Amino acid sequence: MFIDTHAHIYSEEFESDLDQMIVSANNAGVTDIFMPNIDSTSIDRMLSIQEKYKSCHAMIGLHPCYVKDNYLLEIKTMEEKLTDSRFCGIGEIGIDLYWDTTFAREQEEVFRYQIFMAKDAKLPFVIHSRESLELTISIVSELQDGNLSGIFHCFNGTSEQAKKIIDIGFYMGIGGVITYKNAGVDIIVADIPLDNLVLETDAPYLSPVPYRGKRNESAYISNIAEKLAEIKGVTKSEIGATTTFNANKIFNITP
Ligand code: NI
Repeated sequence: MFIDTHAHIYSEEFESDLDQMIVSANNAGVTDIFMPNIDSTSIDRMLSIQEKYKSCHAMIGLHPCYVKDNYLLEIKTMEEKLTDSRFCGIGEIGIDLYWDTTFAREQEEVFRYQIFMAKDAKLPFVIHSRESLELTISIVSELQDGNLSGIFHCFNGTSEQAKKIIDIGFYMGIGGVITYKNAGVDIIVADIPLDNLVLETDAPYLSPVPYRGKRNESAYISNIAEKLAEIKGVTKSEIGATTTFNANKIFNITP
């Protein structure tokens, strides 16, 4: 049994075959799928999927790549939605200095603000930290008062950064990148305790080998688990059990 802690299954890439994709995921042992939000335009579709499939769980939050001129309005929408709907977490939030740094300052402001939203709502949060891992770790460390919990999604850092994340009580999301040759994440992940890891696909992006370059989907969690089992020298079912336990603990859902 596996949990996909990060999948954008509400995106248009799944519009034509969402039902089939969810059946395939279930057949591959995926019991639950967590959906991180992007901006105000993705909320309704995500909530309708949550309504239809009890195994799909919605989060609310403004993705750093979508922090633009209208960010104050976007944040206001997130706050309103947070009070009138059911969400299991805040995400995905963070800082992205890879694509466009025009709004870098606003991205940080919005990230900090959404961490306080998570704290107020007593919800975990999912962090996007592309080219900003050191900065996002330092912000979460600064604000950690014992009431913050969550995941550094798509972890791609050093052993020192992994240690800092463990020290502040956070988890790391492991996805398709560990199956890529020369990515180097496998060597780092080998030394991170399984107790601090969760599985994720980031579908429709970052497909694991042998699907690299194609559309990613939740069923491929199985390939990620297989690679992690190989790296850790444990069985695939042990990977499933521990990462599922961790995900249930973070999102507080009863299996
Ligand atoms: Ni994502």
